[in-house]
Amino acid sequence: MMKDGKFPMSQTKTILRSLAGETLPTPPIWMMRQAGRYLPEYKATRAQAGDFLSLCYNPDLAAEVTLQPIRRYGFDAAILFADILLVPQALGADLWFVTGEGPRLSTITAQSDFDALKPADAIHETLNPIYETVKILRRELPEETTLIGFAGAPWTVATYMIAGQGTPDQGPAHALMQGNTPLFEALLDRITEATIDYLAMQIDAGAEVVKIFDSWAGSLKGDAFQKYAVLPCARITKALKERYPHIPVIGFPREAGDGYVGFHAATGVDCVALDNSVSPEWAAANVQTSGCVQGNLASSHMVTGGQALIDETRAIVKAFSGGPHIFNLGHGITPDADPENVTLMIETVRSS
Ligand code: CP3
Repeated sequence: MMKDGKFPMSQTKTILRSLAGETLPTPPIWMMRQAGRYLPEYKATRAQAGDFLSLCYNPDLAAEVTLQPIRRYGFDAAILFADILLVPQALGADLWFVTGEGPRLSTITAQSDFDALKPADAIHETLNPIYETVKILRRELPEETTLIGFAGAPWTVATYMIAGQGTPDQGPAHALMQGNTPLFEALLDRITEATIDYLAMQIDAGAEVVKIFDSWAGSLKGDAFQKYAVLPCARITKALKERYPHIPVIGFPREAGDGYVGFHAATGVDCVALDNSVSPEWAAANVQTSGCVQGNLASSHMVTGGQALIDETRAIVKAFSGGPHIFNLGHGITPDADPENVTLMIETVRSS
């Protein structure tokens, strides 16, 4: 049973058992972006909502798309349907999505842009519908399914707020970090405070686990990785643990490479999510020795399927079989994925 009884109310839900440090015979499974455009039922509900942001802010429809992959596949966890960029919007940034291209935001490049932002505790005005979605989900999910809430990590959110869009190398954010460090750090602090409040409200509404997505952590090196990826994640985790000691936290410093080593201890997270640039054998020896890991099948297998999917899935399950592990992809499933390949992945994990 549980190694140290860290999360006493969690015995029946497999994901909570893994997060408490238990090694299970079969790893629990969920998938990043499991509610998404590869599913026809998602596309239908999104069309009904009108557009992506209207879907995020419509609690009934957001709960519906969250539940779709649970009904279809029986994943062990549901992740709240929302987006990391709702926090900047709630802080006062303009946000819109360009079809086929991605998000666009008003930019933060000067002190006056920052001064126009709202205080962290003003976010709930905008984000109330998200808490409503969480409440609906807690009522409607099967009792064995864990509900995961989430937010973007301050660095990743800041990269979008500074550049006004996704950037291949996060150049504008690095430029502000170098050129106006006090402004950059003030922005990171504001996002950190808002993220703590936002995740606390998700937990109050019924989220059982929270995940912090640092999708662009890989472009921070050395001291910058410590200051702008590790420390904000540690600050958020500490603030949440003070109020909710029983709620596990998953950190995802994507493409951190050797930065994954020691990340559990440095941040206090219960689980480190791994992208697929690290081998499961290396991660088992260097990261899982410090706690639960999540990952890390390449999402391209969800497009290509076949024997390669089966072989790689089995290799991941085997490599992580000696410790706590939650099976997942290394990044979100893509719109061109074949829903049948998801079934094949789940069957392979559960029969490994
Ligand atoms: O995982 C889930 O199913 C939960 C919901 C979720 C979404 N976005 C829904 C979404 C989560 C956890 C996110 C996180 C997110 N959003 C991240 C971090 C994880 C990652 O993918 O690196 C980032 C960087 C964003 C910002 C974002 N949102 C981008 C860059 C895009 C456009 C890219 C794309 O895939 O089109 C989005 C849109 C988005 N967020 C979609 C979904 C399902 C697709 C929008 C649509 O339906 O048109």
